[in-house]
Amino acid sequence: MSIATQSTDSGLILALSKGRIFEDTLPLLEAAGIVVTENPETSRKLILATNDPGVRVLIVRASDVPTYVQYGAADFGVAGKDVLLEHGGEGLYQPVDLNIACCRMSVAVNAGFDYENAVRQGARLRVATKFTHTAREHFASKGVHVDLIKLYGSMELAPLVGLSDAIVDVVSTGNTLRANNLVEVEKIMEISSRLVVNQAALKLKRARLQPIIEAFEKASTLQP
Ligand code: ADP
Ligand code: PRP
Ligand code: MG
Repeated sequence: MSIATQSTDSGLILALSKGRIFEDTLPLLEAAGIVVTENPETSRKLILATNDPGVRVLIVRASDVPTYVQYGAADFGVAGKDVLLEHGGEGLYQPVDLNIACCRMSVAVNAGFDYENAVRQGARLRVATKFTHTAREHFASKGVHVDLIKLYGSMELAPLVGLSDAIVDVVSTGNTLRANNLVEVEKIMEISSRLVVNQAALKLKRARLQPIIEAFEKASTLQP
């Protein structure tokens, strides 16, 4: 691995995304004795310090966490199963399901759209999603022909304005679907976030990483 792509000093670098993953990872870090001393919501800094000079936190987009860890620019990170399935998981060790940022991946349509009937009749469906890999696999396994339209957010808008017949997106409370007059017609899978570790870092920095992995594992089983 080149110097440019491996964090070489003996310190550890953790990749997290702002928002729910950062917030839900804080208690797990604390269980490992690590306290992040800067707030990503108020700071513009992208490398945050912790109380441990040997641990720093990178703030990256949720979908970029696996890439930073894969290439060794971060030693470990936290990423949703949805994101990991799209990335493919290459070069990543995934030792712990952290049981945080829990939601489900679902198919949703306009309240008036008869999805079951469309599927029965073998209609070709237009499906808008950020999760093209997962959506392709899901509809292929059902033998449903789809045209996938790649979006990067606000998927719920697509059926409302006729861009698509259906969406594949994550659902938690269902509030966003309800607010936009959409209904969930199929649950594809349960989603939660995983600890991901660079495979080379696991070997080279095992002495530093192993206690953190164990603390995360223990603390995550105590999650409600
Ligand atoms: P993004 O900016 O990519 O949307 P989020 O912080 O919203 O990032 O999502 C990060 C991860 O949290 C997702 O990959 C998914 O696993 C999970 N997630 C997304 N939306 C929700 C939600 N409404 N409730 C719980 N977990 C969610
Ligand atoms: C996510 C997701 C849905 C919503 C589902 O959006 O993309 O829109 O949550 O949650 P609910 O079922 O509880 O309403 P998020 O809040 O992450 O907004 P963003 O990704 O568009 O910033
Ligand atoms: Mg989001």
